[in-house]
Amino acid sequence: MRPSDPRRPPFSRRTEWPRETNPWSVAVEQARSLGREFIDLSDANISRLMPPLNPELIQRALSDSSVLRYEPSAFGCDGARRVIASYYQRRGLEICAENILLMASTSEAYGHLFRLLADPGDEILVPTPSYPLFDHLADLADLKLVPYALGYDGTWHLPSGNIEARVTERTRAIILVSPNNPTGSVFDRAERARVITLARDRGLALISDEVFADYTLGPESHETASLIGQPNVLCFSLNGLSKSAGLPQIKAGWIAVSGPSEFVDEATARLEIVLDAHLSVSAPAQAVLSTVLPGIDPWQESLRGRIAENRAQLDRALAGSPARRRHSAGGWSAIVELPALRGDEAWALQLLEGHEILGQPGYLFDLLDRPCLVLSLILPPETFQEGVRRLAEGVVAGSS
Ligand SMILES: Cc1ncc(COP(=O)(O)O)c(C=O)c1O
Repeated sequence: MRPSDPRRPPFSRRTEWPRETNPWSVAVEQARSLGREFIDLSDANISRLMPPLNPELIQRALSDSSVLRYEPSAFGCDGARRVIASYYQRRGLEICAENILLMASTSEAYGHLFRLLADPGDEILVPTPSYPLFDHLADLADLKLVPYALGYDGTWHLPSGNIEARVTERTRAIILVSPNNPTGSVFDRAERARVITLARDRGLALISDEVFADYTLGPESHETASLIGQPNVLCFSLNGLSKSAGLPQIKAGWIAVSGPSEFVDEATARLEIVLDAHLSVSAPAQAVLSTVLPGIDPWQESLRGRIAENRAQLDRALAGSPARRRHSAGGWSAIVELPALRGDEAWALQLLEGHEILGQPGYLFDLLDRPCLVLSLILPPETFQEGVRRLAEGVVAGSS
């Protein structure tokens, strides 16, 4: 038995996380507290960076009388679920509204799925590099994350055997992020087929994070990046208003369940109890979702245009410098490879000190093979242009 210490409250071991701040965050905080001006090329707060999607419509939805009624429903209201089903239909994906389950965010969805699929000590496979979202969520569910590495040789790919070799008796699910953040990678048709076959043969579920699926670059599309509707394995596709409509503050996310019907029925029956215990998606969030989701296409189009413009600016700025952008098939980020003269944190600090720009060191995303900076592509193009001009200048100066 664990001895209790009468001098301190009984905190759990799972929340004994290290809380030291990394040197990059310390330097950023210090620069901010000194009031120093710099261009934050890591800023991905869409609510600050893009003109909002139809504010009048959002305000009208929030003042609708429906938001004053409490009508608890484990999966969210039928109207909102139907609106999400038609959103998919417009993207060539068929899913019935009964298999769409709402909650406050995709981060919350991960937590519920971890608990649905795995017992303490079980394993979940996660791609690396990727967004640092899963560690704490896995700790909270007492699970072990097992990384499977993506390879990069001019494009991102899933090297043969990388994922297969990581499956053990304790593996319960594989997470795919399409497009992945920050690599922007999307599994090609053969890689997707490999993962589906592996999951089917080993009795695993798939958790397919599709929050960036509306921001793919040709030849990929939301339809090809998504696993919605595949009939062979139990699969949970995650998405939400955060990225699809640029409304992270509204807090509306969902899970679309697909696969063999008996698995889908059992999963939804179990999730009904999990979701009923939380009832986390609010009436205002569902009202906004139902109002804005049918009309998001023009807003998404302008964001895709901004991302394309910034990507082109970055390539122009880096041309002739020793840095280059890594290939990407979508998403909101760019990875810039830097000369291996110093580590990425040292590069980031040097660029902040000497050139007043902020980029995130790649190691924060487990980009470890060479020094990289991760930049956000959703900044206003004028700001981004000046930022990448300074970046190129700083890389040249730091390489001589
Ligand atoms: C790949 C990925 N999935 C999920 C999330 C979380 O989204 P939400 O705001 O719906 O929790 C993020 C946040 O940036 C993300 O990058």
